Amino acid sequence: MLAYRHAFHAGNHADVLKHVVLVQVLRYMARKDKPFTLVDTHAGAGGYSLEGRFARKKAEYELGIARLWPRRDLPAPLADYVELVRRFNGGGGARAASARLAQYPGSPAFAQMLLRPQDRLRLYELHPTDHRILAAYLGGHPNTQVAQADGFAALKGELPPPSRRGVVLIDPSYELKSDYAKVVGALREALTRFADGSVMVWAPQLTTIESKEMPRRLQSVADPLAKKGWLHARLTVQQPDARGFGLIGSHVFVANPPHVLHATLAPLMQFLADVLGQYDGAHYLLEQAQ
Ligand SMILES: C[S@@+](CC[C@H](N)C(=O)[O-])C[C@H]1O[C@@H](n2cnc3c(N)ncnc32)[C@H](O)[C@@H]1O
Repeated sequence: MLAYRHAFHAGNHADVLKHVVLVQVLRYMARKDKPFTLVDTHAGAGGYSLEGRFARKKAEYELGIARLWPRRDLPAPLADYVELVRRFNGGGGARAASARLAQYPGSPAFAQMLLRPQDRLRLYELHPTDHRILAAYLGGHPNTQVAQADGFAALKGELPPPSRRGVVLIDPSYELKSDYAKVVGALREALTRFADGSVMVWAPQLTTIESKEMPRRLQSVADPLAKKGWLHARLTVQQPDARGFGLIGSHVFVANPPHVLHATLAPLMQFLADVLGQYDGAHYLLEQAQ
């Protein structure tokens, strides 16, 4: 069953948090010349039109990236992220003012903008349509491999990466409840094979028991295995709907985070809660163990 299409959600508040953190992790990795590998186990289509029928249907990006796009008062890491989105829209640098928000980059597109020629990109996507779009976009790029395969199963063969420097992004749709256990298992597998690799997990903040338990489950895997500890960022932007459902926020968990990540995120989480909040009680949590 593959009903989930990220095109409906591209650029929403959860993508903003995830991609702000991803950009900072990749920037940190690029501080050293030594090559690194990014394994994106659930890559999506790579980029999304915000003017197509999918994105227009719920217009989630209007409560996400569109709220940051016009601002001139962004803290530096958010300005960095928005500049990359502008670049994806053909308007980076001097042409920034003229860019229109018509497309949103997926994680592979952020990677494509931030990886250097010596780095490796490994992208896994199961959905046939999204895989086809992704393969057409990045399939021919040097040092890039796009596979229509199960990213959970593929992880084992990717770790540790040849240069022993790497980042893993685990970002499934959680369309099936079994994804929660698979993500916990994948984190364990990744850290067992590569104890100092940075492993980033995205998870939805819902009112379900699986969602509520997820951060503690991830922490209990990382505590004994991750050599450099972990970081957990949660951004809550909405209240549950009348039936108690809905995506009220999201979590990003990073095992072996860059040592500067907490200090980078701390000043901007309240800003994100203020700008992306859809009710007065929007708030965040930022915690780490070293
Ligand atoms: C949340 S989206 C990914 C978004 C992307 N990482 C980004 O940030 O732009 C999750 C994707 O995982 C794909 N998917 C679902 N199960 C998968 C699996 N077992 N292996 C690889 N891809 C899978 C879905 O088709 C969907 O495109």
